[in-house]
Amino acid sequence: MTDSTATAPIDAHETDTPTFRHFIAGEWMDSVGGGTFESRNPADRRDVIGRFQQGTAADVAMATKAAETALPMWRRTPAPKRGEILYAFGALMAEHKERLARAMTREMGKVIAEARGDVQEGIDIAFLMAGEGRRMHGDTVPSELPDKWAMSIRQPIGIAGIITPWNFPMAIPCWKIMPALVTGNTVVFKPASDTPHCATLLIELMAEAGVPPGAVNLVTGTGGEVGNAIVGSPDIGVISFTGSSATGKSIAATAGQRLKRLSLEMGGKNGVVVLADADLDLATDGILWSAFGTTGQRCTAASRVIVERPVVEPLLQRLETRARALRLGDGLSDTTDVGPLINSGAVDKVAGYVDIGRGEGELVTGGARASDGDLEHGNFFEPTIFAGVGPMDRIGQEEIFGPVLSVIPVDDYGAAMLALNQTRYGLSSSIFTRDVNTAFRAMRDFETGIVYVNAGTTGAEVHLPFGGWKETGNGHREAGNIALDTYTEWKSIYVDFSGRLQRAQIDNQPG
Ligand code: UN1
Repeated sequence: MTDSTATAPIDAHETDTPTFRHFIAGEWMDSVGGGTFESRNPADRRDVIGRFQQGTAADVAMATKAAETALPMWRRTPAPKRGEILYAFGALMAEHKERLARAMTREMGKVIAEARGDVQEGIDIAFLMAGEGRRMHGDTVPSELPDKWAMSIRQPIGIAGIITPWNFPMAIPCWKIMPALVTGNTVVFKPASDTPHCATLLIELMAEAGVPPGAVNLVTGTGGEVGNAIVGSPDIGVISFTGSSATGKSIAATAGQRLKRLSLEMGGKNGVVVLADADLDLATDGILWSAFGTTGQRCTAASRVIVERPVVEPLLQRLETRARALRLGDGLSDTTDVGPLINSGAVDKVAGYVDIGRGEGELVTGGARASDGDLEHGNFFEPTIFAGVGPMDRIGQEEIFGPVLSVIPVDDYGAAMLALNQTRYGLSSSIFTRDVNTAFRAMRDFETGIVYVNAGTTGAEVHLPFGGWKETGNGHREAGNIALDTYTEWKSIYVDFSGRLQRAQIDNQPG
């Protein structure tokens, strides 16, 4: 096992706070500029996890050079062999699952059961993509001419720039790095500046699994410095980014100038429709899990519940009772239901939206920062529900990325469907109904990349395409074998074994 305190930190003997390094060309190294930044536990800001390198454009240039140097070797490594290395990485993640999950909870706050799920999602995609090493098929089709062979194959784009968020700090890097590697690309990876430790732990295991030097390079630091250098690099041919819509749009503008391949996964304003015939207890379970799981900080989190009027009151009563009973705290504690928000900026943002919400709907529960006892040292906010919200109100339209749920009353399925679709985002949606015909209408009508029937809006599995319509993305999908599309170029190949010139579209035409 590669122990983070053995390989990456450099000054553990000088201070209790370890310092972690970049990983470039198979070596742990300091940033060129020499600066560092801290990562702290959001449940207890006194707990410093470590110091991390403040990367610069010069570090990105070094990492890109390393990725370029490793590329000829890695792209010529047979894909099944690349897949075996990914398999070994997935097995190491499984072996270290508990250690990884605990480190994740400490660094970004989600409760330990959810952190285990995040690690598991990384394992799942590693195994799925390991298998792609033996599939990765193109088409072999008949030619229109005799004695001619026609087929298409995938080839790697080159160097992939991977920029990831803090809310799934192991799953999402794996969603991106695994397909990039199995298809023969090399990687420059910049994790969110709130979760550099999670990223470091993943990279250690990749190195241990046998990912060769230079095939994956880690540079930590800010989006403004490291992220921009990756996006602007003329040598990085594909960018995959998950994060805010504002950042995604600015990345798209830069990447567009160079016509780079770009996969974007951004905001959501995911709605749950509850019809009058629904099982309200089941709907309550699904809504609470989707709205307050990961403290509402999932791209797939439910932030709107669109309810047929006859069941608004009974549903609200259930939601209120259950939301009030949720226990805030350190995610490592067995008694915690809801962890902290990622940082104090997130608490300010949520508080700002709650102020806006007070003028738009009726506050049912929550609505305040939580600071009783030990909570005072963390970034806690009460699970919050607003009733009587209009579909076009700001809290019903804008992504809050916190534990705030808006309940929107409507007259019937048609109005619910319109309200659900009346948003600029389109990631996930759900409907609770016992009527099979209405369920199928929703599957047809909802303008989102993911639709759930009689379940909440979270819980995507890695072997299906993941991504959103409208401003949630730019048409690409992660996960599933469709993820290979982001990281590959197609090559169509014709082999003429007739021994003479055969002209397509001419020699097989009459006359
Ligand atoms: C995200 O929030 O960006 O479906 C990813 C889910 C998880 C993935 C969420 N499997 O909620």
